[in-house]
Amino acid sequence: MTKTYDLYIDGQFIKAKTYVSLYSPYTNEKIADVAFANEEETDLAIAAAVRASKIIAKVPAYERADILEKVVTLLKEKAEECAKLISIESAKPITAAKGEVTRTIMTYKFAAEEARRITGEMIPMDAAPGGEGRIAFTVREPIGVVGAITPFNFPMNLVAHKVGPAIAAGNAIILKPAEQTPLTALFLADVFEKAGLPSGVLNIIPGHGHIAGDKLIRDERVKGITFTGSPQVGKLIKEKAGLKKVTLELGSNSALIIDDGVDLETVIDRAVFGAFANAGQVCISVQRIYVHENLFDQFLEKFVKKAEKLVCGDPLDEKTDISALIRPKEVERALVWIDEAVKEDAKILIGAKREGNILYPTVLTNVTSHSKVSCQEAFAPLVIINKVHSVEEAVDYVNDSKYGLQAGIYTNNVHTAFETASNLEVGGVMINDIPTFRVDHMPYGGVKESGYGREGLKYAIEEMTEMKLICFKK
Ligand code: SIN
Repeated sequence: MTKTYDLYIDGQFIKAKTYVSLYSPYTNEKIADVAFANEEETDLAIAAAVRASKIIAKVPAYERADILEKVVTLLKEKAEECAKLISIESAKPITAAKGEVTRTIMTYKFAAEEARRITGEMIPMDAAPGGEGRIAFTVREPIGVVGAITPFNFPMNLVAHKVGPAIAAGNAIILKPAEQTPLTALFLADVFEKAGLPSGVLNIIPGHGHIAGDKLIRDERVKGITFTGSPQVGKLIKEKAGLKKVTLELGSNSALIIDDGVDLETVIDRAVFGAFANAGQVCISVQRIYVHENLFDQFLEKFVKKAEKLVCGDPLDEKTDISALIRPKEVERALVWIDEAVKEDAKILIGAKREGNILYPTVLTNVTSHSKVSCQEAFAPLVIINKVHSVEEAVDYVNDSKYGLQAGIYTNNVHTAFETASNLEVGGVMINDIPTFRVDHMPYGGVKESGYGREGLKYAIEEMTEMKLICFKK
């Protein structure tokens, strides 16, 4: 018998009109029945959040920080259970799931710290004629109700990146987790309740994007939407959200540049990790590698040798590096893209084969820029490795993309490092590392179709608060 999960609204689990069965991406077996909110149920959650927003806005910063600190303590106690849940519902290999829980704990810890230092600034009013005799300063106030729509690939930490700052800033929040990964999100209800969060401040409503998500986006009582997902949905959100604040963390086809002269021993492990962690289902996964011609053959050989050693299998097995993609149709899509690339002259070095819902790590070379495996977001364990004559040529390839989230360059030359950092059209540049790097307090977000606004606790709090000017006339 599998478990049934209800909606979490106004501090209570409530029955819904509709339940949807959830299946393991790895075994295809049923793992749960989950309530999916319809429009009326979403409305209930919004009404509860509106009421609770008045309460949490008056809770002092130190108490909000205390609640988040308690969440940290409770999650530490439940870390094993959380990791297993992530692994079961998303097929993330258990070692990576444990890593995600550790990061989640850190994210809530930073949220607690940031709750205590939400500040404004003094404005020198007499800098302009007419400003004499006035003292002014700014404060940041919570926006009220935040709607959060989260993805499947980090079902716990990307929820924390929305719930943590919303509560730190004194907002109420309605969380609509990814359709495929609602269990980790619902797990939080009990944790926040035990931590002492007032009822209605956190509401968790699994549901379809076009029903529950759409209601959150359009409803005027929701003052901000924070979303991680695809550019297609991100664009729709921006169109429908009216005057709401919107933060969008969208996709990418992130690239890594390898300059001449670097020591490949230090590069290969990181590059393989970046390409295949979580089966490539990471927005900053290494999808394109441009290697200087002098190192190209060596790089290819070492990369393939390392990638061939990755263990594919059961996500709950500690030895597994790569498991199933989130849905069978994603495996099929990736294989079609690979086929198309081959027709366009690409060469498969390894992979391009499936076993169940697992796509084996796939390395392609000689790929044209317009092949989907290069110019679209693959979100699969596949990487293209192409030869370039110079870093400048590589930068042109990296920038020839509709995306711009993060990029990486390995180089021994400081001038090249700074020049490249300045020329790359992305939200973050990693020098001497892969783009697949994130610690949870750093500003994180993209340009072009990779997004709008920034996450990272301090920056997310800015997006979830409104600045108010207070001016005293003497
Ligand atoms: C993402 O896939 O957008 C998040 C990556 C991360 O947090 O490491």
